[in-house]
Amino acid sequence: MAKNQEKTLRVGLAGLGTVGAGTFKILQANADLITRRTGVRIVVTAVNARNKGKDRGIDLSSVEWVDNPIDLASHPDVDVVVEAMGGENDPALSLVKTALQNGKSVVTANKALLAHHGVDLSRLSEKHNAPLMFEAAVAGGIPIIKMIREGLAANNISGLYGIMNGTCNYILTTMERTGESFSDVLEEAQKLGYAEADPTLDVGGGDSGHKLVLLGALAFGCQPDYQNLSVEGIDRLSAEDILIAGEFGSRIKLIGQTVKLEDGRILQMVSPCLVPRTSPLAHVDGVLNGILSQGDFVGLSFVEGRGAGEGPTASAIVSDLMDLANGVNGPVFGIPADQLQSSPSASRDDWTGEFYMRLVVQDRPGVIAEIAPILRDHQISIESLIQRGRSADQPVTIVIITHQTTGKNIRLACQEIADLPSVLDDPLTLPILKI
Ligand SMILES: NC(=O)c1ccc[n+]([C@@H]2O[C@H](COP(=O)([O-])OP(=O)(O)OC[C@H]3O[C@@H](n4cnc5c(N)ncnc54)[C@H](OP(=O)(O)O)[C@@H]3O)[C@@H](O)[C@H]2O)c1
Repeated sequence: MAKNQEKTLRVGLAGLGTVGAGTFKILQANADLITRRTGVRIVVTAVNARNKGKDRGIDLSSVEWVDNPIDLASHPDVDVVVEAMGGENDPALSLVKTALQNGKSVVTANKALLAHHGVDLSRLSEKHNAPLMFEAAVAGGIPIIKMIREGLAANNISGLYGIMNGTCNYILTTMERTGESFSDVLEEAQKLGYAEADPTLDVGGGDSGHKLVLLGALAFGCQPDYQNLSVEGIDRLSAEDILIAGEFGSRIKLIGQTVKLEDGRILQMVSPCLVPRTSPLAHVDGVLNGILSQGDFVGLSFVEGRGAGEGPTASAIVSDLMDLANGVNGPVFGIPADQLQSSPSASRDDWTGEFYMRLVVQDRPGVIAEIAPILRDHQISIESLIQRGRSADQPVTIVIITHQTTGKNIRLACQEIADLPSVLDDPLTLPILKI
């Protein structure tokens, strides 16, 4: 904090895109409110982006433009660096490291950076007594970091289950509403600006995975561990899957779940799941995000809101800045970095529950008789089975709902089923969430 007569927190803003420009706008529009609530004036003093000449709809005449974002980390008029550039490597990584080394606080929206470098950065933060805050990195405007780190701090968390990617949720909701295919809806989402030109990180589940490992670190006191994450995206889902899931009283959602198993291992898994309509997660629609947590004393808690976009994400950044203005300074993941455990990890093989299994097969007698013994050999019993699409020479879809089994049994059975000549496509299997 600047030691002048008026209490001021001086911000160096790296990145002036959706998040950076949004942050600038809130700090201007709600300046009086923010000062009333914190007793501190929070002002942007220096900025950087790639293109100096670009019109960003904000008046930058009173702030200094620096040509290299790293310069913000040693700028004499900057107390806190807001990193809103993105990317898990440089320049974001060097900027955050250098700022922390120089004792400057950092606020970032960059989940990829923290998912990959969280442990090193939390060590640096502690060593130099420089807070590193990241409320905006997970679920945008939903204060989920605060909720886990502070509101639920008295509880042992046993599991977190979240819809944390608005693009995927928009695609799935639209496929359900219109009956259109995944690729058609993705194309429309790209035209509307809801999906990136390269959608891989979103629809492949990687973006949800980045967020999930950060929540897992906070909930379980373990190192954010992106390497030990089971990830599947939504690109193999068909409108028919969504329709059939509906007939079983469920909706299909891309769920990131991190769960502490009875043997202490941590399961981190991103996968499309069937979610029963009785679950609040089933009713998170469109671009919204929702997260359900289970604590030993508090029970289930559910939060829902806008997980991305200028306003929600910038709102989270400014709330971190206000915490800094109020003197909040704790370990990045809730406990000191050297106490973060490197917990043995579980994989999708260890997930236990019922599964939805979709098979595309030749329409001829005896196919089910070939599949049934494979399921039996892997301790998978069938709760229900339906068959769709009977017309001459056309493949048929068989959907099996299993009784409780493990991901490993499902994987091994599907490897054998996929080798049957009558099976025309790799089986699709979706866990059925019962929460
Ligand atoms: N958008 C969201 O809803 C959202 C939600 C949560 C978290 N986030 C995270 O917030 C971060 C920023 O996202 P965004 O949507 O605001 O991205 P964006 O709109 O693409 O903005 C990125 C900004 O960083 C600048 N930049 C990029 N690379 C740079 C470099 N090498 N050197 C200097 N400046 C560079 C760009 O400069 P120019 O403008 O000159 O090109 C731009 O101003 C990311 O980590 C993202 O994951 C975003």
